[in-house]
Parts: sequence; C-alpha cells; structure tokens
Amino acid sequence: MKNKTALITGASRGLGKEFARIHSSHGGNLVLVARSENELRLFKNELETIQNGISVYIIVKDLTLPNSARDVYNEIKENNIQIDYLINNAGFGEFGHFVDVNWDRFEKMIDLNIKSLTHLCHLFLPDMTARNQGKIMNISSTAAFQSGPMMAVYFASKSYVLHLSEALNNEVKDKGVSVTAFCPGPTDTHFMDDSKMKETKVIKNMKLPSSHAVALSGYKAMMNKKPVKIHGFLNNAIAFSIRLVPRKWVVAITRKLEA
Ligand SMILES: NC(=O)c1ccc[n+]([C@@H]2O[C@H](COP(=O)([O-])OP(=O)(O)OC[C@H]3O[C@@H](n4cnc5c(N)ncnc54)[C@H](OP(=O)(O)O)[C@@H]3O)[C@@H](O)[C@H]2O)c1
Repeated sequence: MKNKTALITGASRGLGKEFARIHSSHGGNLVLVARSENELRLFKNELETIQNGISVYIIVKDLTLPNSARDVYNEIKENNIQIDYLINNAGFGEFGHFVDVNWDRFEKMIDLNIKSLTHLCHLFLPDMTARNQGKIMNISSTAAFQSGPMMAVYFASKSYVLHLSEALNNEVKDKGVSVTAFCPGPTDTHFMDDSKMKETKVIKNMKLPSSHAVALSGYKAMMNKKPVKIHGFLNNAIAFSIRLVPRKWVVAITRKLEA
C-alpha cells in the first residue's frame, strides 16, 4: 500500500473520507474527487500534515456532468499519476414515492451512481490490466439484494453496481486485477440526511455503525480481492435469507420497514 495511489470519488465526507484516512495511514498517496473544494483543500492539508511524506492531489468535479469521468482521467494522465486503486464511492439516494421525486434528482442519481462509476471503470481498467496490477472497489449497498419501494431508483442503481462489479471481476481476475463490490448497510454518514432515510421506520430505531468501521471492512475486502463484501453479520444474514423467500414477500417486507 505504501506509495500506491488510490483515486477516491466522494472523498469530501462520509465513507470516502474514511477510505482516504485508512489508505494514507498505510503510507499511500491519494487523488480525491468531489464537488466541495474547501472541504477537499482542508482535508488534503490535514492528511499531508498527519501522514508525513504522502501526497494528496485533489480534483474538484461534479461527476454528474457530461464528460466528467474523462476529465478526471485526462487530468490524472497529464500529471503523470498512476492509479493503483480506484474507489468508486460517490453516490446518493432519495427516499420518497417514485412519482413525487423530481426527475432532475433521479437523472443525477443515475449519472453519478451508474454512469460515472461505469465510465471510470472503463477508463482505468485497461491501464491496470496492461500492468497486470490494480484494484477497483465499487461501493454498492445491501440495497442491491432486493427491490426497494420508496427508494426504487437508488436500490436499482446499487443492484447495477453489484452485478457490474461481479462481472468485471470475472473478466479481469486472470490479468492481476480485482474488482470488489462493497455492500454496506445503513451507516452513520451525511447520506442519511441527504436521502431523507433518517425519517424511515427502520433507520429511526437503528444504532448505525461508524463510517470508519464500515470503511475499514471495505478497504480490507478490496486488499484481499474479495468479489463481494457485505459489511456486518446481520446484513450478511439478511442478504442470504432473501434468496430463500418468495420475491413478492421480500418487496412487501422492505416496503413495511421503510414506510
Ligand atoms: N451511508 C449509508 O448508509 C450507505 C449505505 C450503503 C451504501 N452507501 C453508499 O456509500 C457511498 C458513500 O456514501 P456516504 O454514506 O459516505 O455519503 P455522504 O456522506 O453523503 O458522502 C457522499 C460523497 O459523495 C460526493 N458526491 C455527491 N454528489 C457528487 C457529485 N455530483 N460529484 C462528485 N461527488 C459527489 C460528496 O461530496 P460533494 O458533496 O463534495 O460533491 C460526498 O463526498 C455512496 O455510494 C452510498 O450510496 C451508503
């Protein structure tokens, strides 16, 4: 990990920030991407001060914009930075009836959770397979294992991430490269407020794990080249048991938990 460079999207807060802290604590360099310039600058200073000798390069970018993934790739190439680990973490959700949520919000969700993640994989994988070396971690969710009434687009986007990652891992594993789908359950980050999930029945009554504990389990899974990693015993048990229950029951139970 020392001197290896990790590109992390959505690194201005939450899980992305924790992945960056963990990677830099092993002496790794970073390229951090998010929209909040101030947050990224402060975080870069913090990390470079705490972890002597590492370098942190920041790219301020809205990854929902057309060509944003290619802009990120080009800037990295122009600066002769080699990306050893790609962590596609930026993403968001929205709680509410499908028809009540603004279309712009859904379009941005698809652009970020699906399109930019896929494009970044498509840009960086050829460099990794050519070197016979590299790791990608795509942040999915326990939402990936079932349909999610009241968060239909978000759940579907995370199923896409899970299936894309598993398939890509199969395609590149013989070329020294791994792709991990990391599936956290509900975690204590800004996501909970932003997605309005804090108001849901299931979250109101739940003690959420810290972003550090969750990020650590994802980071270890990426390092160990695990194709799929679900965080936590209960989340694993639920994801497994879903396979044994009729699909319509699963949808009905998910709906009851959320609203
Ligand atoms: N928290 C949970 O319960 C949970 C559970 C399962 C999966 N996840 C997944 O984990 C990932 C990280 O979420 P989190 O919980 O850490 O959420 P968070 O605290 O809200 O952080 C989201 C990050 O994504 C960045 N981002 C949002 N929109 C962006 C855009 N258009 N362009 C570039 N960056 C953007 C944000 O930075 P800026 O605002 O500065 O751009 C921020 O750094 C997401 O993919 C989420 O779906 C979260």
